[in-house]
Amino acid sequence: MCGIVGITADHEALANAIDYLVNGLKRLEYRGYDSAGFGFIECRTGRLIVLKDKGKIDEVVEKYNVTSYCGVAGIAHTRWATHGAPNKANAHPHVDCSGKVAVVHNGIIKNFVELREFLEERGHVFKSDTDTEVIAHLFEEFLKTERDPFEAFKKTISMLEGAYAIVLLYADQPLRLYFARKVSPLIIGVGRGFNIVSSDIPSILPLTRNIIALRDDEYGYIEPYMVYIEYKGQKTSWRQRITTVTWSVEDAEKAGYPHFMLKEIMEQPRVLYETFTGLTSSNEVYDAARLINEADYVFVTGAGTSYHAGLVFAYYMSRLARTPVIPFISSEYKSYESLASEKAVLIAVSQSGETIDTLQALRAFKAKGARIIAVSNVIASTIPRESDSVVYTRAGPEIGVAATKTFLTQVLALTMMAMQLANMRGYISDGEYKDMVELLSRAGRVAGEGINASTREVERLVDALKKKHSIYVLGRGLGVPLAYEAALKIKEVSYIHAEAYPAGESKHGPIALIEKGFPVIFVGAEPGEDYLEMIQGNILEMKARGAFTIVVGHDAYTKLEGVDYAIGIGEQPVILAPYAIIPPLQLLAYKLAVSLGYDPDKPRNLAKTVTVE
Ligand code: G6P
Repeated sequence: MCGIVGITADHEALANAIDYLVNGLKRLEYRGYDSAGFGFIECRTGRLIVLKDKGKIDEVVEKYNVTSYCGVAGIAHTRWATHGAPNKANAHPHVDCSGKVAVVHNGIIKNFVELREFLEERGHVFKSDTDTEVIAHLFEEFLKTERDPFEAFKKTISMLEGAYAIVLLYADQPLRLYFARKVSPLIIGVGRGFNIVSSDIPSILPLTRNIIALRDDEYGYIEPYMVYIEYKGQKTSWRQRITTVTWSVEDAEKAGYPHFMLKEIMEQPRVLYETFTGLTSSNEVYDAARLINEADYVFVTGAGTSYHAGLVFAYYMSRLARTPVIPFISSEYKSYESLASEKAVLIAVSQSGETIDTLQALRAFKAKGARIIAVSNVIASTIPRESDSVVYTRAGPEIGVAATKTFLTQVLALTMMAMQLANMRGYISDGEYKDMVELLSRAGRVAGEGINASTREVERLVDALKKKHSIYVLGRGLGVPLAYEAALKIKEVSYIHAEAYPAGESKHGPIALIEKGFPVIFVGAEPGEDYLEMIQGNILEMKARGAFTIVVGHDAYTKLEGVDYAIGIGEQPVILAPYAIIPPLQLLAYKLAVSLGYDPDKPRNLAKTVTVE
């Protein structure tokens, strides 16, 4: 949800900050791409220059020949519009009346209407409809009374209500960038002769792997040789807070693939293996299972794909650990917070560790004494930091907006938690537990085989589906959450309406839409005969009404009567089914998008890390 980055650098350390700003911003484009902009202090003149417009970063960079400039310090922004249409005037950075102050912001300033009135009464002239512009004018206003610009900055942020990550550049202090964080994520990249402030890790990787994750309500400034952080008026020491991230710069690049989404689908065998080995050689899963074991009530929450991983968790918790789990979509936490107490544990699943809805669910539960377990992919992000226990997926940076590799790594981590608990509670013996761990060690390989074996069939299926307007994805048992995830992927990137349902439930409404040629994908994840028979019935019901029936699942499903098209995954134990079934469906979504001429990495209206409610 908007990406911001700022850098200040000594000339010796970095000849031109602009090249970095462009590169760094492009690595945040998954956070929004309605407009882009740059504000920097020009090397020769020391003047503040702002170049911005609607459109994607490359378009803006080309249009304004951004890389032909030289800058010593600068800020940049890629926007996911909240207040105001995505046009040039509303693009960030926003500038004050004097043209000396530029600001980029991620979040929402809730009281911006009152602040704008306050400023207009004092003669400030606004050029945009955004909430952000008030920040630049407030700073300008307080510079009139405060001799120290840092005091003016502090006064500015004390006026703001809402959520924000802010970076502010002031031409009279050309090598200093002011920053503040409340709710919206912000990290500092610590370097030698330069420092960076950014929304997320991928953008700092080209220059440093040393980060400080800022906490809520922290603010301060960076200069090439200085990081200064304050919290409630007190200087905070940060050196011991530096985390060195293990991701490499290549991890956040396409590595020859046309899109990040494809690269990330193809990386699944490796990252599943890395997640498995990382988790089996740490205490993370054990510690999480212990917390669950102590609780009377177990909740799991997340948004989008992470919620679907939570549903898979609830399934395995029931099947393996015979423990009921209440799953809920994180934005709906208000309906569940009355159930939170010291006897509850909440598992907050979030790839980014920053999704605001999930964070709020976490905080609401925590306030009532519940213990929190985070399942996240981003080290030192907010959700893990605020949790009692963390299980990290080791998927590396995920840049494609639609989550792919992180889903299966979440499923793997959550399955291991359910298995561990099942063992603790005596539902599976030590021997059975060991056998299951051994099975799960093959998850990556199974995903690789699934990708290799299905690529040709997926391509043929794309031809059959790309002209369709709507697709159903149906499943039973474990197939239900997998169907939800498949439908989400298809609609997110190909814009073909796709809806998932438990297959049995399809008779209670969805079947009304079936007519000749309507595609229905059946996810066959459950190996048992009983499931096979039930799905057989559902296939025939759809077929009788003219549906085009597709099966993605265990080989036994592909042989059912009335199947028009099938992608078999061999025979997998139920614990491995997700790793075989999901990759072909992700590939289907990806290839549908590409064949329809869409960019699957940047689906319209979507952003990867949603930091507004
Ligand atoms: C957005 C992304 C999804 C993601 C969801 C939750 O909607 O586009 O891909 O699943 O947020 O994100 P999280 O980082 O909390 O897993």
